[in-house]
Amino acid sequence: QAPVIAIDGPSGVGKGTLALSVSQAQQWHLLDSGALYRLVALSALRRGTALDDARVLGETARHLPVRFEVVQDQGVRIDLDGDDVTRAIREESVGEAASRVATLPTVRAGLLDRQRDFQQAPGLVADGRDMGTVVFPDAALKVFLTASALVRARRRAAQLSVSEDSAIFERIYSDIIQRDERDATRATAPLKPADDAVIIDTSELGIEQVFDRVMALIAE
Ligand code: CDP
Repeated sequence: QAPVIAIDGPSGVGKGTLALSVSQAQQWHLLDSGALYRLVALSALRRGTALDDARVLGETARHLPVRFEVVQDQGVRIDLDGDDVTRAIREESVGEAASRVATLPTVRAGLLDRQRDFQQAPGLVADGRDMGTVVFPDAALKVFLTASALVRARRRAAQLSVSEDSAIFERIYSDIIQRDERDATRATAPLKPADDAVIIDTSELGIEQVFDRVMALIAE
């Protein structure tokens, strides 16, 4: 089976950026598992399905009519049932809904095989919350990124050019805390590092430094 590098960690810790650059450096496939949860959430919002309807959302997850298309120099284009939703799934409201549907065991189970389908030669870099613990327990390398909620809120604010003494910053910060809470307390696959994960605290590290550290681990 093709080797997997699992990159897990909480909201806003920089997994996405890291996973993308590692996958490019290795020329390996990339799984953004958060996008799958966002797609389930978007489908639910569009169809008016209640975000706690475990049965229907489990079916949605299992049958998601999604296509990931690599567009040269532009990253991945995500197509849901013929509709380009690459941007739509990044909306804050969809992220919020994704964090809710991700607590449902039916949704997590419904997405399992689809995530495992990404494990193809020459290898896979998988980004999420439970890549190393549940989806790819045999991953060759497991990295778990951490940073305090405040540091993550500051980074997100900087991305959005939001000042730290604004009400918007308070919102960003409290959203991150709330998402951490949901990730940590859900019954199925609560967020925690795998026993054999390498934990990297990124609070004091830039993107480049984290990347270098992971590439060094791969080379080991
Ligand atoms: O990092 P951020 O919360 O902004 O979003 P994401 O990585 O795109 O994931 C969206 C939501 O899906 C998160 O709030 C997680 O709760 C959930 N998720 C999960 O439960 N398991 C995964 N493997 C990936 C994401």
